[in-house]
Amino acid sequence: MNIAMIGSGQIGGTLGKAWAAKGHRVTFGSREPLGERMRALLESIGPNAAAASVREAAAFGEIVVLAVPGTEIERVLEEAGSLRRKIVVNATILFDGRSADAEVRRLADGARVVRAFHTSTWEALANPRFGEANATLFLSGDDEEAKQAVIRLGAEAGFDMVDAGGAEAMAEVEKALYSFWTVLSPRFGRDYAIRVLRREEAQPS
Ligand SMILES: NC(=O)c1ccc[n+]([C@@H]2O[C@H](COP(=O)([O-])OP(=O)(O)OC[C@H]3O[C@@H](n4cnc5c(N)ncnc54)[C@H](OP(=O)(O)O)[C@@H]3O)[C@@H](O)[C@H]2O)c1
Repeated sequence: MNIAMIGSGQIGGTLGKAWAAKGHRVTFGSREPLGERMRALLESIGPNAAAASVREAAAFGEIVVLAVPGTEIERVLEEAGSLRRKIVVNATILFDGRSADAEVRRLADGARVVRAFHTSTWEALANPRFGEANATLFLSGDDEEAKQAVIRLGAEAGFDMVDAGGAEAMAEVEKALYSFWTVLSPRFGRDYAIRVLRREEAQPS
């Protein structure tokens, strides 16, 4: 697929690299597509990655992944232009009490928004394999077809994807994960992950 990665840091760089390695074409939408940091990132990824402005990347992507600071959501969506009917995957977090998910759904007019790739640390994103198990990531959204595309992409990058339900479902998941975080991170640091065990569906191991 053609994937636009808006943001080229810990989350964007990590996921972009994983998907390029699986044969997807990744274009980073960046404030500095010609900068030294981007040059080094592209070099580390190889021929399936390129960089462009946010608008150019968004036009290129069938899937547009938002991996910028939550405070930049409005700016990058404005710069991206129309995302109508595109799958917009929102990995951003806001730390001011507002829901980044609600913000993106409000601002990305006509887009098929999926909330995903924000429920683990980037360290776990970079290396989702823990012994014999892959880390679970949660996603949510109201567009079932868009979620299936994101589940496939997540699985390709090595994650056990769990669909939490419609867009409103994620708030409860986030609350629970935050509780785990406060208990677990003092003991395990940032490089731990949650795995959901279940019997009802076959899972990639
Ligand atoms: N790190 C984690 O463990 C983690 C986990 C879950 C969710 N998140 C969320 O995922 C999003 C991305 O996190 P990250 O850790 O990847 O952040 P990061 O390493 O700081 O990267 C953010 C990227 O956003 C772009 N950007 C655009 N405007 C920016 C601005 N004003 N200041 C800084 N960067 C700007 C930059 O790319 P260009 O320079 O190419 O424009 C930068 O590489 C955030 O919303 C974060 O809360 C992070």
